[in-house]
Amino acid sequence: MQLSGKQIENTTMSHTPPKRTFFAMSIVVFSLVCSIVAFFIYFELGHSECASRQLDLQQDKGVRHPEEEFKPLVLLWFWPLGITFDFRDCKKYFNIDSCELTADRSLYSRADGVIVFHKHISWDLKNLPPSPRSPFQKWIWFHVESPTNTKRIPGLENLFNLTLSYRRDADITVRNELLTVKSESQKDFKLPEKNKLVCWIVTNTDPRTGTGTRASFYQELVKHIKVNVYGAAFTGVRLGNEDYYSTIASCKFYLSFENSVHKDYITEKVNGPLVAGTVPVVLGPPRQNYEEFIPADSFIHVNDFPDVKGLADFLTQLDKNDEMYMRYFQWRRYLSAKPHLLSPHDEFIKPICLACDYILRDKHYTVVNDLYKWYFQ
Ligand SMILES: *[C@@H]1O[C@H](CO)[C@@H](O)[C@H](O)[C@H]1NC(C)=O
Repeated sequence: MQLSGKQIENTTMSHTPPKRTFFAMSIVVFSLVCSIVAFFIYFELGHSECASRQLDLQQDKGVRHPEEEFKPLVLLWFWPLGITFDFRDCKKYFNIDSCELTADRSLYSRADGVIVFHKHISWDLKNLPPSPRSPFQKWIWFHVESPTNTKRIPGLENLFNLTLSYRRDADITVRNELLTVKSESQKDFKLPEKNKLVCWIVTNTDPRTGTGTRASFYQELVKHIKVNVYGAAFTGVRLGNEDYYSTIASCKFYLSFENSVHKDYITEKVNGPLVAGTVPVVLGPPRQNYEEFIPADSFIHVNDFPDVKGLADFLTQLDKNDEMYMRYFQWRRYLSAKPHLLSPHDEFIKPICLACDYILRDKHYTVVNDLYKWYFQ
């Protein structure tokens, strides 16, 4: 069935309604038949071509269309300590859904960011992603240990574009930070029931990791005050995660002793008691550094006293004076501590999610020149 040009001309020129109706119907029928024919021809002969076009379209998504929602692809080169997790946890725990994470190395050339866990380079640069890299791609140096526990693997200068660390001056900083409280609801903080004075959960006593300072402080402290210890180091059993916050909450003071003393190296050991409703007694960088992260009256610093006995006496005094003790909780009216994920299994989730999110917003050209000069300064 075909309509000649002449017929069309004739029909359109005509003013009689029945003819017009007939013409309109013919057009409809004609188009329908044509589409069906076209569909069959295309489907029979061209479905493979069709599939490849769809693939092209999908790959097109990698090209940045500013008007579309662009999700960068971030490749995790090593699973930290071999521990895997579900990338959907970024949304679940941190509400981060702005990027796509993968551990599939075959996507390397397409990745906008590549996260490299420092420890797993393990003295061999061959473990690094291959060169050359895509010009838009950024390598992220991922390391959350203190300088004491950092291997100086040579050859890492001018290689990375971003640093991911607990340090404030890293490109991507990962920390447990206090949040300001806007509502009045926090006003009535109820002190958890306490049946112990000083507690300490400790797993690591390996002096090679820098624990010597805190170990000798502890040895001296127990001469003056009772300390309830938990965890593998002293009791031989790991304290279960389900008991972590409740154990800390049951003590008036908690020893937040870092394994090594470095600027900004203030870890979840402080966050735990702040969450639980317990006063942290901190050993780490100077008080001033702590005050950059938590209120001055939320913690006791071991350096606030001329000696260990001075600290022990002060804790004993606070134990007898509720009013003085309760002053350490006043900050809670304005700030709140957020519980951190507990198992070692979870400790790498947050940094990886944050790095992924950062790649979306970061549009700058950057190079980390002398990694160690910065890190060990
Ligand atoms: C990342 O760093 C490398 C190594 O210095 C550099 O060659 C590359 O151009 C940088 N890329 C970006 C996107 O900043």
